[in-house]
Amino acid sequence: MPGDINKEIKEKIEKLVKDLNYHSYRYHVLDAPIISDAEYDRQFRQLQELEERYNYVLPDSPTQRVGAAPQEKFEKVRHSEPMLSLDNAFSHDEVREFDGRIKKLLGVSGEIDYTVEPKYDGLALELSYRKGILITASTRGDGYEGEDVTRNIKTMRSVPLKSEGTKVPEEIDIRGEVYMDLSEFEKLNNEREKKGEPAFANPRNAAAGSIRQLDPSITAERKLFLACYGTGRVKGINFKSHSEFISWLRDSRFPTPARLEIAKGIDKVIAAIAEIEKSRQSFPFETDGAVVKVNDLGLQQKLGTKTREPRWAIAYKFPAHQETTKILDIQGSVGRTGVITPFAVFKPVRIGGVTVSRSTLHNWDEMERKDIRKGDTVVVERAGDVIPHVVAVIKEKRTGREEKFPIPDKCPVCGSKVVREEGEVAVRCTSLHCPAQVQEKIIHFASRGGMDIEGLGEKNVELLYSRGLIKHFEDIYKLRKEDLLALPRFAEKSAQNLIDAIERSKNTTLARFLYALGIIHVGEFAAKLLAKNFESLEKLYHVAQGDILYIKQMGEKIAASVATFFNDKKNLDLLDVMLKEHNLKISNPDYQGKMKATGLLEGLTFVITGTLPKPRKEVEDLIEAHGGHASSAVSASTDFLVVGEEAGSKLRKARDLGVKTVSYEGLLKLIEKGDKAPRLF
Ligand code: IVH
Repeated sequence: MPGDINKEIKEKIEKLVKDLNYHSYRYHVLDAPIISDAEYDRQFRQLQELEERYNYVLPDSPTQRVGAAPQEKFEKVRHSEPMLSLDNAFSHDEVREFDGRIKKLLGVSGEIDYTVEPKYDGLALELSYRKGILITASTRGDGYEGEDVTRNIKTMRSVPLKSEGTKVPEEIDIRGEVYMDLSEFEKLNNEREKKGEPAFANPRNAAAGSIRQLDPSITAERKLFLACYGTGRVKGINFKSHSEFISWLRDSRFPTPARLEIAKGIDKVIAAIAEIEKSRQSFPFETDGAVVKVNDLGLQQKLGTKTREPRWAIAYKFPAHQETTKILDIQGSVGRTGVITPFAVFKPVRIGGVTVSRSTLHNWDEMERKDIRKGDTVVVERAGDVIPHVVAVIKEKRTGREEKFPIPDKCPVCGSKVVREEGEVAVRCTSLHCPAQVQEKIIHFASRGGMDIEGLGEKNVELLYSRGLIKHFEDIYKLRKEDLLALPRFAEKSAQNLIDAIERSKNTTLARFLYALGIIHVGEFAAKLLAKNFESLEKLYHVAQGDILYIKQMGEKIAASVATFFNDKKNLDLLDVMLKEHNLKISNPDYQGKMKATGLLEGLTFVITGTLPKPRKEVEDLIEAHGGHASSAVSASTDFLVVGEEAGSKLRKARDLGVKTVSYEGLLKLIEKGDKAPRLF
């Protein structure tokens, strides 16, 4: 029974909440604490005890951040205003063009006031506050509808549970980016590698993976940060400018971008961008660009938005990071289909805050083309998405002792014969029992895009395989907790977690399952396409190649590979075991019924520019459904440029290259000629 609460105790609780929130803000946002951790903990425990004894818990109490139980799935949240994306500029000239467009649209000739801030590379988030209290936090999703991640976000100490400033609006949706610092990212990946879990490819994925967690206690363990930079719906407060909004955020204890420059006129904007670019190496987080915004919110409103991006902002993207280092060794690794890929081992080098010690060299043709040898000094580049690659060899640094790495005649893992098929660049190990291939198949099966079995990454698969516990991915479903407990790397909790993750994976979708099977040439995209066209797994049994080729976009190679797989009795027996003995439940939310594609656009390449009456993605799907190819850049091989409103540099380029242009209506006519338009929309 809770004790009787009086005014004095209420006030005591309220004061503790207020003080603790203030100290948490000093620590997590300002990075300037004024009390010791021990003192904070003491007050926190005192609050916890009082709350429990008197059953009086304020919505912004710091005790409410942790302790929520895992959930089954994320609920969907509709954003009251769509969460847009940003248009990109890759050169200073393109930033100047942006300024030109704005002046023209506004009909002004004087200088415009802009703001310039770093672009955070993380996960976009919307935080909805009602009367100052955080109600929901949601991911961007498709821009219109995201996932409810409130419980996870509440574990982040830099996110205010209550907006604390002097002006508290009735309603405000604040947008920002959740990100992970580079040092934290490296630490997390090292830990994951030790535990046999797959490393995150970049800080962005790490942040996204930490938020899109059904168990908030996992999010709580990850050190995540927030930078707020925009709004959705706002009621009860009027900001005149973006910079005024950012000041309000600061007053209300929200974390804001590390820099905010106010720049009058485009020359100052370019100088501010250069300034951010110069100092970005010293930022603790990854930034791949700077965001330029028209400061005046009235002007922003006048300029409005295109389908997916506002006209009043642009993201300037920094060029990729490059460094030079030495290739200490070249080795071959064997993938799940037996393909042997050469990779370089570097003298470790820091590029953009991340240590790079190896990179794929793709294949022997590529290695030959760039003439890459062991001992070479090379330029290595790590672009925004972090997967590093060798740009070029610095030949001047050669000593004559560099060594080529020839195509091996034996598999570097199992020693079996190696073949290189006519016309193929890939070199393959021919053994079906090559341990590297078998393990890679299992890793692929369990991977995120596949069955998504958390905890079954490289290291654990290696261990389970070496102990003979899994020889094939089907064996995953035979694993028992006792088997795991007998292994060095498992304790009660980790064993149970893995068993639970395996159990959870049994409810999956057809697209995921098809991808997980690792059928040659069937990546995530092809798997999805198959799922769109085949109602269930069983419908694929004994499928003919022609039935797959019927689906536009599906090439002959994929069709042949899928047909071969589903006509092999051994495979079908295996699938039956998975469904009937291990009780896999495969749903198919992607199924769209058979598309009646016309193929009228077969062999034609399209590029879209400007604003069309339909979202770009929809138009691209339409083109592809009719056999055409939708590309993003105009080149001499583009057949048509689909031109919408306010087309810019792509239209000019198309004119220069003599590429034909067509309107959206013209595109529909092209398709309707056959009068067999699909029921896509
Ligand atoms: S403003 C209307 N400011 O980048 C869109 N976005 O590539 C307003 N982002 O969707 C966005 N840092 O998720 C803005 N300082 C910043 C940003 C930023 C990162 C993200 C945001 C956006 C994406 C576009």
